This record gives sequence, structure tokens and C-alpha cells, in this order.
Amino acid sequence: MKNKGEKLKILMLAAEAAPLVKVGGLGDVVGSLPPALARLGCDVRIIIPKYGGIDEKKYKLKKFLSDIEISTADKIEKINLWQANLPGSKVPVYFIENNNFFSSPDPYAGNNSEKFLFFLLAVMRVMPLINFVPDILHCHDFHVAMAIDLIKVENQYNNFFKKIKTLYTIHNLNNQGQTGIETLRTGNLNKNLLASLSRDSDDGDINFMVQGIINADLVNTVSPTYAKEISTSIYGAGLEKVIRQNQYKIFGILNGVDVNFFNPEKDKYIFKKYSAKTLKNKVLNKVVLQEKLGLEINAKKALAGVVTRFVWQKGLELFNDDLMRLDCQFVFLGTGEKKYEEQLKNLAQKYPRQVSAQITFDAALAQEIYAASDIFLVPSRFEPCGLTQMIAMRYGAVPIVRATGGLADTVDSKVGFKFKDFNTMALQKTLGNALKVFHNRPKEWERLQLNGMKKDFSWNKPAKEYLKLFQKLVGI
Ligand code: GLC
Repeated sequence: MKNKGEKLKILMLAAEAAPLVKVGGLGDVVGSLPPALARLGCDVRIIIPKYGGIDEKKYKLKKFLSDIEISTADKIEKINLWQANLPGSKVPVYFIENNNFFSSPDPYAGNNSEKFLFFLLAVMRVMPLINFVPDILHCHDFHVAMAIDLIKVENQYNNFFKKIKTLYTIHNLNNQGQTGIETLRTGNLNKNLLASLSRDSDDGDINFMVQGIINADLVNTVSPTYAKEISTSIYGAGLEKVIRQNQYKIFGILNGVDVNFFNPEKDKYIFKKYSAKTLKNKVLNKVVLQEKLGLEINAKKALAGVVTRFVWQKGLELFNDDLMRLDCQFVFLGTGEKKYEEQLKNLAQKYPRQVSAQITFDAALAQEIYAASDIFLVPSRFEPCGLTQMIAMRYGAVPIVRATGGLADTVDSKVGFKFKDFNTMALQKTLGNALKVFHNRPKEWERLQLNGMKKDFSWNKPAKEYLKLFQKLVGI
């Protein structure tokens, strides 16, 4: 039991933390939730692997422990421990360095199960060394879910871990970290753990996601709607039964976004800064982008932006010739699966003045697109939360989203448009309706923009909800 007023100590584990390392929304969340919790008086710290791509100089990393030994199945591996503050805050971040596992700049290169299991073994070893006994271990997504198993094992013979409670956050149920039981050899894991894992391995493998859900004291997903959806066979990714069995401890907390960073009034990447008061300046960003990308230069043309990872989840196959019949320009930005990259490149080749496909990961260009877009499209098959629709609204781009997960929770008719069915016709119809408002009812359009720009997408409210879960866990 913790006394009210005492600082809650939280240790977060994750595969990404922006801006140090970011592939997707997971990185954004782990980069902005901790400072928000710190502002509420928590002592929050983060541990991530020290990937090859992390810029030591820029982020002022300092090495403070060397050659710590971690025993794996066949040998002793050594790690070094580095530290820095999360940029723009005082939140300490610890980095675990090991060249055999983490030297690639891509966090997800190589065998993820082995790599992240090793990371967690190192975390167990490091926690006592940094002398930080957290009240709560907060694990984000499957990569670090096994930490919850590991502390249970450690509990049996190590006082250090005894009182630690656990929260497991599901950012995406579809990535589960399934692995053969032999992978666990990486960890030279003790017999107790192997016994507790045997239930899960009945079907031939271990599923890190399942381990997290079953073993954590509490679980949450990143929006209330997704928390409900995942108990159904459509959205449950094969785990709907496990979800239903554990529903009593699964909560939904909508993510926030970094509202200081995503702010058209201060954005240094965009051509012309603007705010709700100077919204008329937004169009200058559109014309500049049209020119830069070789689209028809026309301030009156509607421009629709899409910024996303090119993966199955995101519904990119809905963009086809039918949609191009609408009087609207499209700009795509992202990287991912080859087939989506090809599909979008083909569209751009066929309609060079109407479509631009930017196949690259470019944070600055993303900001330019938010600033330039009249409309922002997110037609996802499923979407645990989705951050881009919120960012788009900050920039006065009106979102058109599929009514699922966090998209359903953040977009209503005051700020944008939603469609239900996952097909091009539904998207086309909704985009068509939006374009009618854009062209014929400018006052109404401006209302949508202003309502979106005024919405509070900061981390203040979500951080308070996380704090409530933490307090529940420690019994305050
Ligand atoms: C994952 C989900 C996305 C969510 C993000 C952060 O990337 O796909 O919907 O916004 O995690 O929680």
C-alpha cells in the first residue's frame, strides 16, 4: 500500500520512444506519456535498447555502467548501460547496449522474439543496479510483455521485485510475437517460468501478447472502442477468447498527441505558420506543396493527405481508379510493404497532376502535408487509436475516417466524416459528400476545421486516466 502524496514510481519498457527512436505511433506514445505523468508528480523512467540508429551526440547519451554480464543459454553476453533525458523533459531514459542484438538501426531487424527476450533479461539485471524499485512496471506491446513473466519468476528469490505491480498496454493486438518454445532458450530461463509457459505452448508456440494479457495485473488498449472491439472475432486477431476471459481487467484509454510539436502556429517545417485566427494562411502551404510535388497548382482544388505506414491494417487498397474520378488531389506519404508502394506509385504515374506518392519516411514532409491538406484520409481496417487524424485536426485538415477503434472515438460530425463499410464505394461516397461541403458551403467547412483545431488532444486527460489505473494498482 502506498501513501497518498508519495511519488509513484513507474518504469516503462518499450521497443520505441520518440524522438530517440520511432517507427510508428508506439514511439510517439512512449515519448509523450512519461513527461505528462511526470507533470502529474510521478517519477517515470524508461528503458529501451540502444539501437545502432540512436544519435548519441544529439541526445547526449552518457555511458555509466560497462560490461554487465547476462547469461543466456549458450554463453555470457555483456551489456553496457547508457543514460540520457528524454528530449525536452527530465524523464530519465536508460539504454541497453549489446552489439549482437541491437546494433541495427531498425528496431525490428532480425529475430524479434530472441532479441526482445534478451532485452528483458538485461532489464531484470539492470533494475537493481540503477536502484530504482518501481511501484509499477508498465510494458508496451508484445516486445516487452514477457517482462511480466520474468518479474514473477524473480519474485521467488529476489526481494527487489516483490512489490512491483504491472500494467500491460496493447497498442496493436495484431502483432503478437509468436515464437517457438526453443526461442526461450535465449534466456536460459528457469524451470518455474518454463512451467508457467507450458499452458501457452500447448498449441506449439509461445505468444508474447497472450503472456502479457494473462499475467499483467491490469491491461489497457489505446481507445475505448478498440477495447471493446477486440473481444469479437473480427477484431480479436485470434485472441478474442483470451480477451473475453480477461475483459474484467482490460480498460480503454485514448492516446493524446504532442500538442507542442504538432502545432501549426509554431511548426518550423511548414512554409507559412497559421492558427485558428489566421486560418486563411493555411492555403499557402497547399500551393507550395502542389508545386513541390508537381501537382496541378490550384488553390481551389481540394487536397487530401494520407500519412501512414503502408501495411495491411491501413486500408490502402481502397485507393483505386474509381476514387480518382472525384475532383480531389491525393498525397501519400509512407513506406512499408512493396505491393502498396507499387500500387500508389502506379496511381501517381497514371494521374501525375492529381496524385503524388512519396515513398519515404520523412517527418518534415509529414508536417508539410498536414499543413497543406484540406482533407485527411484514414480508411483503416482496424485502428487501435490512430494519431494522424488527431494531428490532422490540429492543422485544420478535416478527417475522413473509417468508424473503427480510436478513429470512431475521435471523429464525429462536428469535426469530420466517418464511413462504416470497408470498401472503396463507401469511402468514395463519404469523400464525395465532404467535397460538396468543401466547394459549396465554405462557412460550414470552416466550422469543421475550427472545431477540430479547438479539440483538446493533449496528454493531460489521458495521463490522468493512466494515473488512476496506477493508483488502483497500488491501492491508493
Ligand atoms: C499502433 C496502432 C495505432 C496507435 C499506436 C499508438 O501503432 O496501430 O492505432 O495509435 O499504436 O498507440
